[in-house]
Amino acid sequence: MLSEEVRPDPQFMQQKVIQGYEAVFGQKPDLLSFAPGRVNLIGEHTDYNRGFVLPIAIDRGTYIAAKVRNDEQVCVYALDFDCQSDSCSLNERIAPSPFGWGNYVRGTLVELRNAYPQIGGLDMVISGDVPQGAGLSSSASLEIALLAVFRDAYHLPLTGVEAAKLAQRAENKFVGCACGIMDQLISAQGKSGHAMLLDCADLSVSHTKIPEDYAVLVINSHVKRGLVDSEYNLRRKQCEQAAQCMGVDSLRSANLTDLHASRESLPPLAYQRAHHVITENQRVLDMFNALQTGSLDSISRLMASSHRSMKEDFEVTVEPIDTLVEIVKSVIGSRGGVRMTGGGFGGCVVVVTTPELVAQVEQKVTQVYPKMTGLQPSFYQCSAQQGAFSEPK
Ligand code: GLA
Repeated sequence: MLSEEVRPDPQFMQQKVIQGYEAVFGQKPDLLSFAPGRVNLIGEHTDYNRGFVLPIAIDRGTYIAAKVRNDEQVCVYALDFDCQSDSCSLNERIAPSPFGWGNYVRGTLVELRNAYPQIGGLDMVISGDVPQGAGLSSSASLEIALLAVFRDAYHLPLTGVEAAKLAQRAENKFVGCACGIMDQLISAQGKSGHAMLLDCADLSVSHTKIPEDYAVLVINSHVKRGLVDSEYNLRRKQCEQAAQCMGVDSLRSANLTDLHASRESLPPLAYQRAHHVITENQRVLDMFNALQTGSLDSISRLMASSHRSMKEDFEVTVEPIDTLVEIVKSVIGSRGGVRMTGGGFGGCVVVVTTPELVAQVEQKVTQVYPKMTGLQPSFYQCSAQQGAFSEPK
């Protein structure tokens, strides 16, 4: 028997938040929003170095049912956290929430209110089907869904790029994670059936079609991620240190020749981190081309080399994840690629391969991975979706 593969069901999720809203507030909501999570095909830890990333928005995300209030109170119920409720007033200083999830809401409200002081209150019920803590951006999808519902409620001229910037600032300043902008931007601006090449230096995007005979499979390692934020922030500092030693404003402006020339003056860890970022930027561009020409062989090599770089240079993978990657590779060979996706220290791997191989991959992983690691995998076959701020299809 195969392990859990839960198919997303948008209608079910919408009904869930609508009914949740009715149960909590005793009336019907009049606003509904959705923002997707994401899986990054390649380009890890490059976004905050002004580099390139290549994510897709997935068919799982955060759903919100809401109604405008006549005052400045924002009142939120989170169905996925035993219906915990959090509220705050937009007229007062917004303090940290007693709940982890509440800080994403409150942080986003602080930034939104700074940009649009005219906003008023909302009653909301929230639920999502992005597995939490799996590195698929459940938090970015919450922030972007929240911004989308406020845009609709108060007719704000908010664009996808602006929403992504507000949400990123909320995480940086209120939540305390020095994340880049990839997750928020793909959740806002994703394009159905396409991967999005984002240049984080100027936020320009180009989309490339995912060939119809490709499958994107995400496998959750179920490794509990610890110390993610502190390790993440440390990596970011090390990259900044490397850029500073090399005399460039960001690693985006450095190439391998510069790096080798600075070898003596760079602390060894900063050298390794910079080596990952510089080579990863090139892999993103090569992967974009490989998707355009439909070269599974190149995809296989690029994803393998990205994973190795994250393991050896950037040191953000963990043993069960490396095991999972090896198991998948033993099935697909050069007929597709596999690598860890997201910030690291657990979470998911992403597989790009042909649909015929998906069942074999799932079967092998189900048989072997639990024996080798004591963990049960979950599988999500993903298709690329529109972002919450993209034009309707
Ligand atoms: C997290 C961050 C992103 C990005 C990735 C690593 O998902 O939120 O900004 O840095 O890690 O690529």
